[in-house]
Amino acid sequence: MGYMKGRDLLSILDLSKEEMEYIFYLAKSLKSDFLSGKKQHDYLKGKTVALFFEKPSTRTRISFEVGVYQLGGHPLYLNAQDMQLKRGETISDTARVLERYVDGIMARVYQHSTLEELAKWSNIPVINGLSDLEHPCQVISDYYTIFEKKGYKKLKIVYLGDGNNVANSLILAGALLGMEIVCSSPKEYYPPLEVIRKAEDLAMKTGGSVKIIEDPKEAVKNADVLYTDVWVSMGQEEEKELRRRVFPPYQLNKDLVSLAKDDVIVMHCLPAHRGEEITDDVMDGEHSVVFDQAENRLHIQKAILALFI
Ligand code: CP
Ligand code: NVA
Repeated sequence: MGYMKGRDLLSILDLSKEEMEYIFYLAKSLKSDFLSGKKQHDYLKGKTVALFFEKPSTRTRISFEVGVYQLGGHPLYLNAQDMQLKRGETISDTARVLERYVDGIMARVYQHSTLEELAKWSNIPVINGLSDLEHPCQVISDYYTIFEKKGYKKLKIVYLGDGNNVANSLILAGALLGMEIVCSSPKEYYPPLEVIRKAEDLAMKTGGSVKIIEDPKEAVKNADVLYTDVWVSMGQEEEKELRRRVFPPYQLNKDLVSLAKDDVIVMHCLPAHRGEEITDDVMDGEHSVVFDQAENRLHIQKAILALFI
């Protein structure tokens, strides 16, 4: 296992399987402390972490902000709209200034290349809080939730819907952890070929598998986990009408859930557009673990902060 301190976390591919397991291990201990009333630790004592956002956020912002505080550090929320970036200052200049003030950056951006630019121009860790390519912090937390519910074993994990950031990280992390991964999307919305190829390479080494199946009814058969995300991600608002016409067969509803295993768990990274990619009865039903998923973001984010910063 490599030493994580000081490194960037831009992609699931930045982690080995052992490193991901170590994040789970530390998160478990932080969560157990938290639940027994010990919320404060000093992993970030005297440190400041910039939380940089080009897009809205509820869970990511709050879990990181609370997390930095609970680890003894100071979280600094930076909305890109309020910065000189809005008036044309470059990302590289911003990064070179930030590294002189803070000890780490968590950033939510439109383009993944913005994260790479932040990482290139600063000598402090940069953590991806969602880009157009990946959402690693979400998905590390989701596998933690999956293993909490199902035990750490090979599971069939089926993602339904848009082959976007969350799907990409879910597929890559599943492959890294040796899971049986199925992604079911309309052809035009398959995850990028490069992501699928990288996941297949990982799965060959870990004993996992990666399949893309267009037919959602075929895909969900025997699933241990069903996962979905919004059809219209942040920044895609102009494609809303088109997407709402294409995605309905992939809606996570009672009929699709009934084709999976009896004890299947249903997951969603949130925010959900109820009635679009997931129905109310499924989101609030007996299989849903979506709020436990959201809860675990805090503990996983704390483990990531403690290890990387
Ligand atoms: N799942 C997630 O990242 O939620 P937010 O957009 O609210 O941060
Ligand atoms: N795919 C969604 C995830 C939100 C957490 C988006 O990018 O908007």
